[in-house]
Amino acid sequence: MLSDLAPILPDTAAVVDGELHVGGVAASALAAAYATPVIVYDAAHVERAARSWIDALADWPAGSLVAYASKAFSSVGMLRLLADLGLGVDVASHGELGTALRAGIPGDRIVLHGNNKSRVELEAAVAAGVGLVVVDAPQELVLLESIARAAGRVQPILVRLNPDIEVETHRYISTSHGGSKFGVPAGVATELLLQADASDWLEAEGVHLHLGSQLLDTDPWRRVLEWLAGWAVELRTARGGRELQSLDVGGGLGIAYLETQRPPTPAQVVATVTEVLGSQWRDAGLQLPRLVVEPGRSIVGQAALTLYRVGVTKDAGDIRYVNVDGGMSDNPRPVLYQAQYRALLAERAEDAATGAWWVAGVHCESGDVLIEDAPLPEPRPGELLAIPATGAYAASMASTYNMVPRAAVVLVRDGEHRPLLRRERIDELFVRDADAPEFRA
Ligand code: LLP
Repeated sequence: MLSDLAPILPDTAAVVDGELHVGGVAASALAAAYATPVIVYDAAHVERAARSWIDALADWPAGSLVAYASKAFSSVGMLRLLADLGLGVDVASHGELGTALRAGIPGDRIVLHGNNKSRVELEAAVAAGVGLVVVDAPQELVLLESIARAAGRVQPILVRLNPDIEVETHRYISTSHGGSKFGVPAGVATELLLQADASDWLEAEGVHLHLGSQLLDTDPWRRVLEWLAGWAVELRTARGGRELQSLDVGGGLGIAYLETQRPPTPAQVVATVTEVLGSQWRDAGLQLPRLVVEPGRSIVGQAALTLYRVGVTKDAGDIRYVNVDGGMSDNPRPVLYQAQYRALLAERAEDAATGAWWVAGVHCESGDVLIEDAPLPEPRPGELLAIPATGAYAASMASTYNMVPRAAVVLVRDGEHRPLLRRERIDELFVRDADAPEFRA
């Protein structure tokens, strides 16, 4: 069983006496220490994946920044680990910015995103000396300029470009088609860069684009950069010879949720990007820009798995359910995007599958099913069930639906474990409860 799932497990996953270990720690020890569900990140895997981006860009002559997209999973401990490797951070809200600052990420390695940034967010970013604010709309440029002026700081910006291309992924995570809420069309981007050029308080560094997420092919990057070369030439003319200093190609590289999926490597994505820049851009006489990438999922996605405790099992018509003690509150991706996952029984990791089970969560929704038809040995109440590839957009999108406390998130390495986020307590669920006796009947 385990060997079949090796392509989707964290790097250090191993079986010792039939039991799944990650980072040298037994699944049962983690469940005992943190209760279940628990999300377990393999530090070695995170580091290897992060380094593969750094290494892929190391030879790019115009400089680069790998800004981890912290929406994939954000905690101070995780950001520190990545910052130690030289990564920056992409933040998309005041809270994500706050986490990056708490983690001690230098401002010049932070990139701020958002299609509707508030004044407060922009003020906080300017005050923190954020390296790049990615402007997403004409009104935002005006607001940001006034904030930078008031703060007496020159703010470097990128303009988010909507290239109007279709990519193959779930429609909720495709961002580059014409009707998307993100970015501005090329003509508007030119206008915004010209406006920024004319301002003493904005430094127009270049453009940003993000094509979509969970991309399993490098072709979208090739298509968009080939198109962009033509536009960059026109832009240079419009700006009186001024060139793009930085090009941010966003994130989007997919991972394997299923053992059959074969995503490209960061090196392959970077090779595609640099090949087009090195040919089309050079041919057009364009200066090579500094490259910024914003990988999220491809750094943390396969680095983690979630451990659940099996509860009751049940047959419903043709469907055999195995119920676990988490669900859509710790991983909403199956309900949101029909995302597919695999599972294994952590203490019988080598046992062969004997049938297919639907892994159901605890929530009061028929749709709260984490996996349909998971091949498994017959699960027994009390056993641990592991779902691999839950490191991206699971903990970060967790909710407390049904007043279920959020799971602990743990980092494992060399036989040791430490919490990144501790398990939420029931009493913490009441912290926001503003009971108002005066409104009672
Ligand atoms: N940069 C920008 C501007 C983005 O909007 C995103 C993701 C990224 C970088 C990182 O993309 P990644 O490398 O992780 O694909 N909740 C969805 C994914 C939403 C992605 C949003 N933006 C999911 O669970 O699939």
